[in-house]
Amino acid sequence: MLNFNYDIPTKVFFGKDQISVLGEQVKKYGSKVLLVYGGGSIKKSGLYDRVVEILNNANIQFLELSGVEPNPRITSVRKGAELCKENNIDFILAVGAGSVIDCAKVIAAANYYDGDPWDFLTRKAPIQKVLPIGTILTLAATGSEMDPFAVISNLDTNEKLATAHPDMSPKFSILDPTYTFTVPASQTAAGTADIMSHIYENYFSNTKSAYLQSRMAEAMLKTCIKYGPIAYKEPENYEARANLMWTSSLAINGLISYGKETEWSVHAMEHELSAFYDITHGVGLALLTPYWMKYILNDDTVDGFVEYGVNVWGIDSEGDKFEIANKAIDMTREFFVSLGLPTKLQEIGIDRENLETMAKGAVRYGEIGNFRKLNAEDVLKIFESALSSDS
Ligand code: NZQ
Ligand code: ZN
Repeated sequence: MLNFNYDIPTKVFFGKDQISVLGEQVKKYGSKVLLVYGGGSIKKSGLYDRVVEILNNANIQFLELSGVEPNPRITSVRKGAELCKENNIDFILAVGAGSVIDCAKVIAAANYYDGDPWDFLTRKAPIQKVLPIGTILTLAATGSEMDPFAVISNLDTNEKLATAHPDMSPKFSILDPTYTFTVPASQTAAGTADIMSHIYENYFSNTKSAYLQSRMAEAMLKTCIKYGPIAYKEPENYEARANLMWTSSLAINGLISYGKETEWSVHAMEHELSAFYDITHGVGLALLTPYWMKYILNDDTVDGFVEYGVNVWGIDSEGDKFEIANKAIDMTREFFVSLGLPTKLQEIGIDRENLETMAKGAVRYGEIGNFRKLNAEDVLKIFESALSSDS
C-alpha cells in the first residue's frame, strides 16, 4: 500500500546562467559565507572568478576552504568546522561535485557540535542542528545537491561512512549543465554509473505497489543509457549534460523511493572499496553492480530482472525468464564497459588481501539489501566473483 510523506525542500535553479540568482539566494540565509571547493577545477573553468565577483558585488563577506579531496576526508571537515566557529559563519556555499557538497554538509552540522565531527559518522552523536547550505554543482553523479546525505572518509581507520539529516538538504542548488562541460570522460562515466546505481538501489525492491515510481526509475535509467555515452564522447553537448544532471538530482532525492522498501547494498559494498583503496565511487559501483545482480538472481528476484530487461533494455518479453534476466545483466555490464569502466577488481588495484575485512565492514550495521538480504559471507562471495577472471 502506497503510504509516504513527500518532502523535497531544495530549491533548484536549472539551466545556463542561472548563477545570476546566487547573490539574492545567499542573502536570504546569511551574510558571512564559507565558500567550500575542491582541488582547483573551478579555478580552471573560471567558475571561481564568477562566484567571487557575484559575492563581492552583493557585498557578501566570505572565507574559503579549498582542497576538499575526492572521497572527502574528515580532516577537511574538521578544518572547515574550525573556520566556521572562529568566524561566525552563517551560510555555507559548496561549489563543486559530490565530495565538496558532502564535506560542506558535515561542516554545517559540526558548527553546532563541540566534539569531533567524526562522531556523526560513527553514530556516536546525532546531528542536532545544521547551518544552511547552498550548492553550485559541477558534476552530475551523487545527487548530493538535492538530498540530505553525506559520505566522509577517515584514512586513519580505513572507514568511509554516511550520515544524514533533513536540514543537510541544500536550501538551493544552482544546476547549470555548462559547468559540467569540463568534466573528463572518466568522471562522466563514473558519474553516469553512480546515477544508475542510485536508481537500481531504489528500483529493485519487494514493494510491488509503487508502479509509478518504478516507471519513473526506468525512464531515468533510459536517460542515462541514452545520454551517458553522448556526454562521454561530446563533453560540450548541452542536451546530454542537462539530462544527466537532472537525472542525478532526481535519482536520489526521494522521488523514486517514496513508499518503497529500498536496497542500498551495492553502495555499502562499494564504500568499503573506496575506504581501503581510495577508488572513485562510480567506478567501484559499475564494477560491482553486474556481479551483485548475478548473485541475487534467483526464483524470488527473477521477475524484477525480467521487468528491468524488458522495460529498460528492450529485450523481448517472450522466452525463458532467466535467459531474459541474464541478458539484462550482461547488457548492463556491456554498457559500463562501453564507457571505459573496469570489470575486475584487479584492474583497480584490489586483490584478495582485504576482501574479508571489507565484507565484514559492509555489514557493520547488520545485513544489507532487501530485494535479497546479504550477510558478510554473501558480500565476500560477490567480491570474490569480481576477482576471478571467468565470471
Ligand atoms: O576537486 P576538483 O578540482 O573540483 O576536481 C574534481 C575531482 O577531482 C573533479 N571535477 C568536479 N567537477 C569538475 C571536475 N573536473 C573538471 N570539471 C568539472 N566541472 O572530479 C573529481 C571527482 O569529484 P568528486 O566530488 O569526488 O565526485 P562525485 O561528485 O562523484 O562525488 C563522489 C563522492 O560523493 C559520495 C561518494 O561516496 C564520493 O565520496 N556520494 C555521496 C552521496 C550523497 N551525498 O548523496 C551519494 C553517493 O552514493 C556517494 O556515495
Ligand atoms: Zn552513489
